Amino acid sequence: MSFKAAPLTGSKPDQYAQLQAQARALLQGERDRIANAANFAALVYHALPGFNWLGFYFFDGTELVVGPFQGLPACVRIPLDKGVCGAAARLRTTQRVDDVHAFPGHIACDSASRSELVIPLVRGDALIGVLDIDSPLPARFDADDQAGMEGLAAIFLEALA
Ligand code: SME
Repeated sequence: MSFKAAPLTGSKPDQYAQLQAQARALLQGERDRIANAANFAALVYHALPGFNWLGFYFFDGTELVVGPFQGLPACVRIPLDKGVCGAAARLRTTQRVDDVHAFPGHIACDSASRSELVIPLVRGDALIGVLDIDSPLPARFDADDQAGMEGLAAIFLEALA
């Protein structure tokens, strides 16, 4: 692998476009889920400011189990009826939460977290897991972040195919 992450420039959508190109290059030619998830989490966590946790929970057929991530140690298992991650997995829709304290059932793995973006990872009919991003800043994630992170999640899923 030869890969070098360059600093991102321009508008937020421009930066996500650059980051998506970097993610494609980083994952290209590798299909191992753990390897790709680990490198993906490291790339994206360090590319943009204002995150305290970014990583994966994978669905084991019953609940979500933590996968590769960057940040402090996290809750290991999350049932689908619990938390922001469970909601994203159960409803199969992105959850963008400006204030996690106002989200019923939010699971505080890191008490610093104030806002959260969780993207379901679905391939065909199958739930693979979720991509979870936490921020210590309230309302850190806007529609550009959601679109950009959904694009990144799609690149992760494509690499597994
Ligand atoms: N806050 C999440 C739990 C996972 S951690 O943030 C890493 C939730 O409510 O699902």
